[in-house]
Amino acid sequence: MAEKVRVAVLLSGRGSNMIALSEYKRRDPDRNYEIVLVASNVPEARGLVLAKRFGIKNWSRSHRGMTREEFDALLDALLIEHGIEIVALAGYMRLLSPAFVEKWEGRILNIHPSLLPLHKGLDTHQRAILAGDAYAGCSVHVVTPDLDSGPVIAQARVKILPRDDADSLAARVLEEEHRLYPIALDEYCRLLRTEAEDSDDAG
Ligand code: GRF
Repeated sequence: MAEKVRVAVLLSGRGSNMIALSEYKRRDPDRNYEIVLVASNVPEARGLVLAKRFGIKNWSRSHRGMTREEFDALLDALLIEHGIEIVALAGYMRLLSPAFVEKWEGRILNIHPSLLPLHKGLDTHQRAILAGDAYAGCSVHVVTPDLDSGPVIAQARVKILPRDDADSLAARVLEEEHRLYPIALDEYCRLLRTEAEDSDDAG
């Protein structure tokens, strides 16, 4: 059986998606990925506490006082040191530098709490309600240099109810995030291995 794809999760906050990714794997070790590392630009992030509790190796360093390029060069070195193949952004609240994204092209995924291409950026739930959308939802996409604009690989819809405010909607969307992201990551990693096997056969 192929080696599992080595994944690093980058986060800046509470880390519930990181836990969902890690639990999905824990429930079935045959999944196509393993979470090798959790890294953060916010040393006090709750997600780091959870990663420690779950026994996942973790790293943090504040980005303050560094340029984006300097910080991302540190990240890049860390990922290489740990043999990381895929980076899963999970509430990582910092733009990545174009050089980093180009170097890891096709190797960075993100989850965004809207039905992309609708409502890129922040305050997505409030904007979906104000726009009168019938549905909100979440999208897993490949990261490209433009914010929340890379190819979408999976989406889940959540109906917006008349009584919804941003918080109630965000809570239901988050449940879908936790369901969708692990499945999408697993499938992406499976395809990565399949493509590698196909090119080995061709060679
Ligand atoms: C999620 O809503 C995710 O879609 C967005 O940031 C939030 C992170 O939440 N990118 P958590 O840290 O995974 O709980």
